[in-house]
Formats: sequence, structure tokens, C-alpha cells
Amino acid sequence: LIRMQELTVKVPATKPGEYKIEIGTGILGVVWSKIESHFGRGGKFVITDANVVAAGHLDKLLSGRNVPSYVITPPGESSKNMVMLVSILEAMEQAYLGRDTVVLALGGGTVGDIAGFAAAIFKRGVAVMQIPTTTLAQADSAIGGKTGVDSSLSKNAFGAFWHPSAVYIDVATLKTLDDRQYKAGLVESVKHALIADEKYFKFLENNLDAILQRQPDVLEKVAYYNCRIKAEVVEADPTETNQRRMLNYGHTIGHAAEMASGFELLHGEAVAIGIIAAGMIEIEMGLGDDNRVEMVRKMLTALGVHTEIPRNISKTTLMDAIRRDKKAINKWPRFVLIDKIGSVHSKEGQWAIEVGQEVVERVVEKL
Ligand SMILES: NC(=O)c1ccc[n+]([C@@H]2O[C@H](COP(=O)([O-])OP(=O)(O)OC[C@H]3O[C@@H](n4cnc5c(N)ncnc54)[C@H](O)[C@@H]3O)[C@@H](O)[C@H]2O)c1
Ligand SMILES: [Zn+2]
Repeated sequence: LIRMQELTVKVPATKPGEYKIEIGTGILGVVWSKIESHFGRGGKFVITDANVVAAGHLDKLLSGRNVPSYVITPPGESSKNMVMLVSILEAMEQAYLGRDTVVLALGGGTVGDIAGFAAAIFKRGVAVMQIPTTTLAQADSAIGGKTGVDSSLSKNAFGAFWHPSAVYIDVATLKTLDDRQYKAGLVESVKHALIADEKYFKFLENNLDAILQRQPDVLEKVAYYNCRIKAEVVEADPTETNQRRMLNYGHTIGHAAEMASGFELLHGEAVAIGIIAAGMIEIEMGLGDDNRVEMVRKMLTALGVHTEIPRNISKTTLMDAIRRDKKAINKWPRFVLIDKIGSVHSKEGQWAIEVGQEVVERVVEKL
């Protein structure tokens, strides 16, 4: 005898939220009082890393306050894993933090991703403020609510969408960032300009020197453009069902190059190669021309980022990595391409489109 009953449980839609992004120079010292006034007296917990502390940014943020903190050591991607996450969560528990906790993520994308994920699961979810300190994090990872850690097999294997309650961008923190990281992170800014805003592309072109000199007024404008563009895309498609994919411009071949290099290439450096590859695919598909690709290459080169694939990466390794793309369908990914600077090509309402393997092979050959 089989007996069965059925019941339906309605899950009310969660209410839409919003958060503010504040951009400035030297604002790290006033962030704390802002958080106190907007988010009350709940427990605070800072998550940061050893380099950010050594650069003096934690001291600036706390200005003498005694706040429980976790300093990720060693800094960088190798610490973005479940073991570190558990260690952070247990430190939070030991600090007697409750459901009214506010987590402050002070650092680059590594800190932001793991701290955001910790906030997402601590006591079933507490608030997180993102305080990004790298060009990459200020342009990209601090906004949009993607959080997570790597597994031993792949990047960002475990995670959650967990939006920040506020984002504070202090461009003065970029002063202490090492040159290679600084430049590589700027590639996401170039990407934003290419997919969404020709005026921004021109702005970047006209201010390359000031950007490289890390002039605060220009960096604030760069941050503003980046946040506006990323926010618009994320608002339209928060969970990446379609439109948000445009943020992956240059990332299909970029991720593959990053993997194929054994992570010798920084993410932004690999994306720079991916952006040029996308430009060459655009030429093959009749969507672009040599001039445009040269213009983009010139900008990336001026920013001090190489656009050639390193010699030790073979074509076969790269093609294999492309086939392993996370978002591949039948072992072949789709590509985001642009029609012109500031406008993504869409086909039948899709923002990531099919490109023949032979086309990609020809392009990889030329890279
Ligand atoms: N969540 C998202 O939407 C999203 C988007 C893009 C990238 N990411 C993730 O971001 C991570 C990469 O971020 P990243 O490039 O910022 O790397 P990172 O956080 O590892 O920072 C790079 C290096 O700079 C140091 N550093 C950070 N700020 C500094 C400062 N102001 N002065 C001196 N040193 C400083 C760090 O300690 C580290 O050694 C990756 O894990 C990637 O997956 C996430
Ligand atoms: Zn990226």
C-alpha cells in the first residue's frame, strides 16, 4: 500500500532592497561613524588581510577603536577557501556576535568574496559592508552581491548571492597597491567602457596619465562610472540569467588564459588578452574592424598591461581551457561581443552568443 498527501507552502517574494555606494578620497576615517549612525549599535566585525593591515588601512578605518577583526594570512587567492571561511566564522562566534552583526570587508576581491560569504551564512545571514581597496574590487567585486570561495577543483565553486548593505570606496587606499595589481585591476574599467559607455572610453583615453599617477579626482570619476555601469547591469538581471552575462566580456578566453597560465597571469592581465581576442572574433564575425581593436590594444598597452598570450601557453592548452568553461553548453562556451564601443551585440535577445570553434581557433592562432 502506498499512501501520499501533498501540501503547498507559499514562499513570499523577498522584498527588494537597495544600498548606497559612497565614493571619495580619504573617507576611510569617517566610514565608521557613518556605519554607526546608519546601522546602529549591533556588533561589528572586520575582515581584512595582512597586506591591507601592513599598508595602514585597518588603523585608518578603526582610528583607535577596539573591534574584533580577522586578518586573512596569507593574503590572496590561496586563502579564499572553505578552511579559511570556517576559521573566520568561528572567530565571529567566539566574539559573541549575534544576528545584528555588521561585517566590514576591508580589502580586495579575495577579502570581499570570503567576507561576503561569511556574512551570508553566519547565523543565517548578517549585514556586510564592502570597503574595497583594489582597482579590481572598487570596479567590480564589491558591487553586485556575488560572494564565495574556491574549491580545490575550481574558482568560486561555493557561494551565495549576498548583497552588501553599503559600499564605501576610498580611492586613496589605491596609493599603496603594488603596480602590477593596480594596472591589472584597471582592465575591468576598460571592459565596462567597452560594453556600456563610449563616453567613458573617451574619458579613460584622455586621462590615462592621471590614472597611472593615481590622481584622486580622476580615480573618483573612474569609480563612479564603474559603479554606475555595473549597478545598472546587475539591477536588470541580479542572478545572471542573461543580461548580466555582458559583464563577462573578454572573460571567456580571459579565464581560459588565466587557467592555462597556471594563474601566473593576474585576472585582469588575462582579461586584457580576452578582450583583444573578443575584438578579433568581432572582426571575423563582421561586427568590428582592425581600427577598433587597435584602439583598445593601445589603451591596454598604455595602462601597462600586455595583450599577447605568454609564449609558454600552447594553443592546445588554451583551446582545452576554453572547452572547460563553466558556462559551456556541450563543451563549448558562448561569447559576449560588441557591435561598437559602448554597445553589446545581442542576437535573439541573448547577450552571449554562439561562435564557431574554427573562428575561435583562428583567433587563438593569431593571439
Ligand atoms: N564577487 C565578484 O563579483 C567578483 C568579481 C571579480 C573578481 N572577484 C574575485 O576577486 C578576487 C580578486 O580580487 P583582487 O584582485 O582585489 O585580489 P586580492 O584581494 O587578492 O588583492 C590583491 C593583492 O593586493 C593586496 N592589497 C589589497 N588592497 C591593498 C592596498 N590598498 N594596498 C596594498 N595591498 C593591497 C592583497 O593583500 C593581495 O595581496 C578573485 O578571487 C576573484 O574571484 C569577485
Ligand atoms: Zn573580471
